[in-house]
Amino acid sequence: MTSNRRIRIGIIGSGAGSNARALCCYALGVNSAFEVALIMSTSLRAGILGVAKEYSIENNVLKTGTTENELATEIMSCVAAYRIDVLVLAGFMRLLPMSVINDLHGHVMNIHPALLPAFGGNGMYGIRVHEAVIASGATESGATVHLVSEKYDEGSILGKAHVAVFANDTSATLQERVKEAEMALYSRVIQQFAQKLQRGSTLDCSMSQFPKYLVTF
Ligand code: GRF
Repeated sequence: MTSNRRIRIGIIGSGAGSNARALCCYALGVNSAFEVALIMSTSLRAGILGVAKEYSIENNVLKTGTTENELATEIMSCVAAYRIDVLVLAGFMRLLPMSVINDLHGHVMNIHPALLPAFGGNGMYGIRVHEAVIASGATESGATVHLVSEKYDEGSILGKAHVAVFANDTSATLQERVKEAEMALYSRVIQQFAQKLQRGSTLDCSMSQFPKYLVTF
């Protein structure tokens, strides 16, 4: 069954909020198939909370030092209160409890600042990723959007954006270029995902390989 209802996303992160800003901005467009219902952060000082304020989005600061069960309960109570269809991770530094992924029928995604499966996994985050790419001598990097599974950066890939790595790049200049690509990629993947949900497609997020990439550029 097709529906025109906008898919409600909840963003969760503790970073500067560039991806959250890009998503809030995209969601303002008349053709957006999704709206940002809530921004959750694990840090009171995170830039992402400033984005919530800027776009008048409801926000929630998650408690720190909680057990996995407590974190799951807190997230799921936000999901219920704000009727969230899809949870979008953007700089979330903890491993998401498996119960959250199951309760959301696998409708949980993350963005990683490299071309997975390369340069992913536990401990690969932030500037470290770009340092590793440069150290490897790779001539290409990018961003990957993937479904979240019980292992870091291993869920089915939904989209990729490629960027060149130049000989004179530093980890900082590469990070900047990748961030630009991330901001364009995330909105496009979520738009496609939301449109599929609107069309009532059964998204079997438990499959080891999602049918095909939603977006690649
Ligand atoms: C992004 O680089 C994303 O790939 C990673 O965390 C970072 C969050 O940055 N998962 P921002 O908060 O969106 O600026």
